Amino acid sequence: MTAQTPPVTGKEVRLARYVTDQPSKDDFETVEAETAAPADGHVLVHNRYLQVTAVMRDLMTEDPGLPMMPAYKVGERPWGGAIGVVVASADPSLAVGDTVQHMDGWTEYSTGPAAQYFKVDPSWYPGLEYFLNQGITAYHGMADVAEVGEGDVVFVSNAAGGVGSLAGQIAKARGAKRVIGSAGSAEKVAYLTEKLGYDAAFNYKDGPVVDQLRELAPDGIDVFFDLVGGEQFEAAVQVAAQGARMALGGTVSAQTGDAQGAFPRLDIMAGIIRQIVIKPFSTYHTPEQIQAWNQHFSQWLQEGKIVLPYTVVEGGVEAVPEALIGLLRGAYKGNVLVKIS
Ligand SMILES: NC(=O)c1ccc[n+]([C@@H]2O[C@H](COP(=O)([O-])OP(=O)(O)OC[C@H]3O[C@@H](n4cnc5c(N)ncnc54)[C@H](OP(=O)(O)O)[C@@H]3O)[C@@H](O)[C@H]2O)c1
Repeated sequence: MTAQTPPVTGKEVRLARYVTDQPSKDDFETVEAETAAPADGHVLVHNRYLQVTAVMRDLMTEDPGLPMMPAYKVGERPWGGAIGVVVASADPSLAVGDTVQHMDGWTEYSTGPAAQYFKVDPSWYPGLEYFLNQGITAYHGMADVAEVGEGDVVFVSNAAGGVGSLAGQIAKARGAKRVIGSAGSAEKVAYLTEKLGYDAAFNYKDGPVVDQLRELAPDGIDVFFDLVGGEQFEAAVQVAAQGARMALGGTVSAQTGDAQGAFPRLDIMAGIIRQIVIKPFSTYHTPEQIQAWNQHFSQWLQEGKIVLPYTVVEGGVEAVPEALIGLLRGAYKGNVLVKIS
């Protein structure tokens, strides 16, 4: 699509009502909205890609209670990571044609203070899609929280998802001896071992997780990176090696309808005997975390030690609800993006 001179008219998606269970298309509405020429100090951006993530489901509930993450409001367009190109600027820091990353993505056109749009150089990565990924969480969780390193046997739950598909590769790049992943289909299990360098993988729907994990890690796991909760957490405790570290990053099973997923049972005696270290964590995308990930991501890409797994959903901004519903259902692999224009 060719950029127009402002004012511009474009589509945006708004939240039509709060979600109590799983989102449906009726929870959203797509509207045409006019965006005026940018005010002094502001820019107008034509979006290219929006990133869709599991936490968006929580933000659609009335009181998500997530620190640092403003809840979505009925009647307004939700926020979300995006990349686009400046088409009009009233601020000297950004020029027409600059590529910018920002958090106002559920819309074709975004406008606001220039300081909220971070200029990037498209030549840093093979494509604009590479700027939108969950690597900061994956890197912080693996490197800083779990402190994964040489010789570790690692288990990643939800290993083919946005965070998990990078977490396993990060563990390998940092010298882990064996990385095991779980996913919800035979196709995803094959993807983990054939494309993402996992040493072994299993389908958590095929039988008790504890049995499948024990078979693949007979000497126990040293590191657990959990994005699921529930049965997968309970199994990891049973299969933990002495002094195992557990970085708990998410409970996607609860986000997709298993109310008990966020409340797994903890075998305290197993934890005491094996002196398991359990560390729940949140990433706040501090400058240090962003820098650490970007530096390692570029280096590992150049060295061929990492790939960025992602799925692009076509269909413009009106495809965002469908993409979020599909993501929660397990329809995609890796980081999920919607191509806006
Ligand atoms: N702590 C932090 O700072 C932080 C930051 C970012 C994200 N997170 C959290 O990390 C988790 C992963 O986020 P994401 O955006 O990368 O999501 P995601 O992996 O893209 O989530 C979608 C995947 O979840 C899996 N899934 C759905 N229901 C499941 C269930 N009952 N059991 C196991 N897997 C299930 C599906 O894969 P299968 O087909 O394999 O089932 C689906 O493809 C989320 O809980 C998110 O809130 C935390």
